[in-house]
Amino acid sequence: MPQRPYIVGNWKMHGTRAMLSEARAIDRAAQRHMKVEVAIAPPYTLIHPVHREAEQIGVGAQDCHHEDGGAHTGDISAVMVADAGAKFVILGHSERRQNHGESDAIIRAKVEAALAAGLRIILCCGESDKTREAGKAVSFVKRQLKASLPVGHEALAAASERLTIAYEPIWAIGTGNSATVEDIAEMHREIRTLLVELFGEEQGAEVRILYGGSVKPENAGQILSAPEVGGALVGGASLTVDSFMSIALAAAEADEG
Ligand code: 13P
Repeated sequence: MPQRPYIVGNWKMHGTRAMLSEARAIDRAAQRHMKVEVAIAPPYTLIHPVHREAEQIGVGAQDCHHEDGGAHTGDISAVMVADAGAKFVILGHSERRQNHGESDAIIRAKVEAALAAGLRIILCCGESDKTREAGKAVSFVKRQLKASLPVGHEALAAASERLTIAYEPIWAIGTGNSATVEDIAEMHREIRTLLVELFGEEQGAEVRILYGGSVKPENAGQILSAPEVGGALVGGASLTVDSFMSIALAAAEADEG
């Protein structure tokens, strides 16, 4: 792996201030596992409080609007999450695509806004079970990624430095059934090929590709040892320090292994 493994917790719509103690515990534990880069994306309301207390972990947002400001009731811009202390933003999560009708074009606009606000990006992609059963998973994911990334050589080069990809097959999210290691390895290899095509040999090799979808302490070691898996985007198992840091530990061991 070219960089430290990256283990990111997506807290989704979980967490009131009572969860700050868990974030603190994750931060303390991360200080003992410096070989792994650990981050969490709590709900918007906890970004600033977690940022204020965190000494080691990265703090990010789960989404942002594509405009800096304006008449968009209930929305939050990239500039605002950066101001609250977020250093990265997750974009294109399948729950945003499904529940909020986000198209690739909207996600591309969000990527551009996030880059302009100085944020790093975790760009999600992933196919449905129907697409996989039809044998079209790889072509679907590649098309989705290309359509969500900025256009033009310079814009792509700038994006690559702050980009992480997360492959999250929709049918594996929150179901307890992760993809098989073979399927993960195949998709990550295909994504790597696309990144090299888009960004060139050197920069394309640097972008980390995370896997997400029912990652838990029991399967983390196997998944994180697969080729081209640079870390994990973890939902449910990131909500407690014990399960989340077991995954981080598995990442450290897989990296050494
Ligand atoms: P689970 O780990 O709960 O399956 O969620 C994965 C996910 O969607 C992370 O973004």
